[in-house]
Amino acid sequence: MAQKLSTRKRPDREVKRTKVERKLESSVFDQPTMFVLSKLIKKGLITSVDYPVATGKEADVFRATCSDGSFFAIKIFRIETSLFWKMREYMEGDPRFYGISSNKLQIILAWTRKEFRNLQLCRDAMVHVPKPIFADRNVLVMEFLGEKGVPFSTLGQTGSENPEKDLESILLDMKKMYKANFVHSDISEFNIMMTDLGPYIIDVGQGVLLAHPQSRKFLVRDIANILAYFKKCGIEKDEGKVLDYVTGKANLLPE
Ligand SMILES: Nc1ncnc2c1ncn2[C@@H]1O[C@H](COP(=O)(O)OP(=O)(O)OP(=O)(O)O)[C@@H](O)[C@H]1O
Ligand SMILES: [Mg+2]
Repeated sequence: MAQKLSTRKRPDREVKRTKVERKLESSVFDQPTMFVLSKLIKKGLITSVDYPVATGKEADVFRATCSDGSFFAIKIFRIETSLFWKMREYMEGDPRFYGISSNKLQIILAWTRKEFRNLQLCRDAMVHVPKPIFADRNVLVMEFLGEKGVPFSTLGQTGSENPEKDLESILLDMKKMYKANFVHSDISEFNIMMTDLGPYIIDVGQGVLLAHPQSRKFLVRDIANILAYFKKCGIEKDEGKVLDYVTGKANLLPE
């Protein structure tokens, strides 16, 4: 017969609470992150964090509601599980991040600022990316890409109804980025959302300035990725000619 634990042996409330807190700390909402979120609520920027739109290894993206009933997307970078050493590759060589420390927390906080600044740079260059709103610690608030509170799907999820037009829009955005001295460095069908205004490019955290020693390699890889995807939709384009178009050597997109 199972013996009932005596009251003395039962974990007390304090211990239970610590266990819950520890569990929270290992997930995305550690205490400092909660503090940033409560600051956003106090400032009146949002009224609630609603649900996770996507969970990943590096970051989780949540929908948040604002007081006027509109929405924001909140990307929260994981401190514990992020592959911060991979992040270094995209920051070393970027003049904006000279002297960045090798401390894991500091790298992730710098990465959050980097994604914010990259979004800003792209918006200034009239590239289709979500508007950045606010960045603090490991929390990035941006325009919510969705309809009636439901996020749009990625190109990888829905495919393209008009591949010629969508590819043209994405390559024009890459051309504008290049003109603004910027290479996305992680373009794929998974980082493009299909909005009712056409393709929007997301996840710009890995983006580097042209001054980065590997920017050319990243650009060639981005072009290869996107052309490989659209080849499956029946559109074939020469990688070299597309590179000339994106870098401004050619004005017109090759047939
Ligand atoms: N501004 C936004 N509005 C609505 N949904 C978004 C927005 N930004 C991102 N998402 C959703 O969150 C998902 C993940 O976003 P993102 O690509 O920026 O994160 P990630 O760093 O790739 O995460 P992972 O760790 O999975 O690689 C996207 O595929 C998209 O579904
Ligand atoms: Mg992504």
